[in-house]
Amino acid sequence: MPKKTIRDLTDAEVRGKRALVRVDFNVPLDAEQRVTDDTRIRAALPTIDALFERGVRTVVLLSHLGRPKGKPEAKYSLDPVARHLATLTTHPVTFVETTDSDEALKATEDAAPGTIVLLENTRFLDGEEKNDEVLARELAELGDFYVNDAFGSAHRAHASTEGVAHHLHPAVAGLLMEKELRYLGDALAAPQRPFVAVLGGAKISGKIDVIEQLLPKVDRLLIGGAMACTFFKAMGLETGKSLVEPDRVDMAKALLARGGEKLVLPEDAVVAPALDAGGAAHVVARNAIPAGEAMFDVGPRTTERFAREIVAAKTVVWNGPMGVFETPPFDAGTRAVAEALARATAAGATTIVGGGDSAAAVEAMGLASRMSHVSTGGGASLEFLEGKELPGVAALDEREGSH
Ligand code: 3PG
Repeated sequence: MPKKTIRDLTDAEVRGKRALVRVDFNVPLDAEQRVTDDTRIRAALPTIDALFERGVRTVVLLSHLGRPKGKPEAKYSLDPVARHLATLTTHPVTFVETTDSDEALKATEDAAPGTIVLLENTRFLDGEEKNDEVLARELAELGDFYVNDAFGSAHRAHASTEGVAHHLHPAVAGLLMEKELRYLGDALAAPQRPFVAVLGGAKISGKIDVIEQLLPKVDRLLIGGAMACTFFKAMGLETGKSLVEPDRVDMAKALLARGGEKLVLPEDAVVAPALDAGGAAHVVARNAIPAGEAMFDVGPRTTERFAREIVAAKTVVWNGPMGVFETPPFDAGTRAVAEALARATAAGATTIVGGGDSAAAVEAMGLASRMSHVSTGGGASLEFLEGKELPGVAALDEREGSH
């Protein structure tokens, strides 16, 4: 990787210092403010541990949670996240509720050696999403060097993810960031073949750039989810009440022409009159979707074909569910794809699951540990696959000799 990581830091740069670490602790909370999925918190622990092992005095953590609009809102406080973090680490965790920069600075300086200091939600600060220069400079005071381990937020050019890196050096990647960039980067740059990409989700509009980027690189591009219906429309098929994006039909036509054999669409579909009418669900060929019904999952012939392609692959990248997996019986297609990826991993393939819905699906199905890599970034992994430069990564120090 051309960017410096915490492995590149010298002892003089870390010993006795305060490490300012941007993490992505944007995790789901239930009504009682309990963390319901701590994957992102656990994923940050190797970097925190490695920094303490290297002799860092204090680890100061920055994160956002949810989308408050530049001012404090109790329901978006990181306090419950701090309490959860304390259950996962042997280091004492201090939560600093203030949004005052002097108080925050004092807290980082006064913390007992070996302490993790988690500061309050960065999006309580007005300048965060504006990437305000004054705020970036204030944040830079909170550590002696900067680590960005928030892959999930790396597509945001905010003060805590991008701006701060211009004012605090060294500015390096953490171990999670390094791992994410390695898996996704290697898959795109030098994939073992066959290279199969599986794309799903509701809308083709959010995935067009990914399809454009992946088509020349992959051996097969499997398309599931409701986005397949816009392709069906482009093929002149009846799509009933299925979700179709009429303004993307021409684009789908062009992609079909360009994709040729590489582009594999569902052969059949699980349809029903409505999402809450699962009892009436039935399988039809893709050219027989009834006028009054909608596609909510791919059908069994499709999953068989997709599974064959996936199991024979040496590299698989998956982003987006095959159907409405949260609502059985429309979870079967997504489950079959997840299981095929697990089989491919066991057979020696590199399998990568993009974050967001597909990561949530493999977690819920208990299959996460059977993937080579499950990304912690939803939007970030998508933008990476689109070939975009992630601002949070671009701002980090270059490794010498890597220009
Ligand atoms: C995510 O959950 O994808 C990241 O934490 C980014 O959150 P955002 O979309 O609110 O910027």
